[in-house]
Amino acid sequence: MTQHALITGGSSGIGLAYAHHLSLQGWRVSLAAQSTEKLEVARKWLGPNTATYAVNLASSSGVARLMESVPVPDVLIANAGITRAGSVGTLSQGESADLQYLLCGGVIDLVQWAGPVMKARGSGRIVIISSVAAETPMPNSSIYAAAKTGVSAFGRSIHRELKPHGVSVTVALPGYVRTEIHARAGLHHLARQVPRWMWLDPQTVVKETERASLAGKEMIIPGRVYRMTRPFLGSRLADVLWRQLTRRKR
Ligand SMILES: NC(=O)c1ccc[n+]([C@@H]2O[C@H](COP(=O)([O-])OP(=O)(O)OC[C@H]3O[C@@H](n4cnc5c(N)ncnc54)[C@H](OP(=O)(O)O)[C@@H]3O)[C@@H](O)[C@H]2O)c1
Repeated sequence: MTQHALITGGSSGIGLAYAHHLSLQGWRVSLAAQSTEKLEVARKWLGPNTATYAVNLASSSGVARLMESVPVPDVLIANAGITRAGSVGTLSQGESADLQYLLCGGVIDLVQWAGPVMKARGSGRIVIISSVAAETPMPNSSIYAAAKTGVSAFGRSIHRELKPHGVSVTVALPGYVRTEIHARAGLHHLARQVPRWMWLDPQTVVKETERASLAGKEMIIPGRVYRMTRPFLGSRLADVLWRQLTRRKR
């Protein structure tokens, strides 16, 4: 039987690359994102085995609507996200709550919906696209880092809960990936300032994450450069370097 994947944020960047990867292998893919135009472009590109759902996943009603509309898939890729920079206190309470729900609370709701069904089936995979921000302090992106840390802790805990029942949860922690996310947040300077060797393409993230998920791994840091530097993440030196690279120069 054709396998079915639900991919949140499947209309661009990592999510679209994931959808393409699975489509090429004959999967049926359901994409959830906000923009109907982008979803339609993705659907046309991916072909007839694609369904789309236009929902705002920063709200619990949007997540509830998605859960009512789609059957629990064989694989859930919880990927939708944005980034928001801003020093402490600069996001309104509403903006902060939406960001936390999109990146963490909504993912928890989706996993609480799919997890028990997969457990009853005795099979299933869940992939959570978190961030290397879960491993290191991120001054001026503290809410993003907090939400990614929370969703990583949740995913790793549920992995250990569900693994004995044939269900894996794999948390991916990418570094810089060439997608729309930074320009969308007004962080255009990053494309100029962050050195080329620090950028991954979405296809690499997908290939390595999917391999880790198929192997039933709990966590994956895509890209050799990020795996090698992991022991230094969070160190004083890494903090100073990171601030220099990401400070807007012009
Ligand atoms: N790019 C990086 O450097 C990087 C690094 C680490 C982690 N990540 C994580 O990777 C994930 C994917 O990001 P990306 O880099 O691929 O970014 P992207 O190209 O901007 O794609 C983001 C996707 O999420 C969807 N989305 C955003 N807000 C949404 C909302 N409120 N409701 C429903 N869908 C929403 C977007 O759809 P619409 O356009 O319709 O809103 C789009 O499909 C995110 O969780 C991000 O935090 C990215």
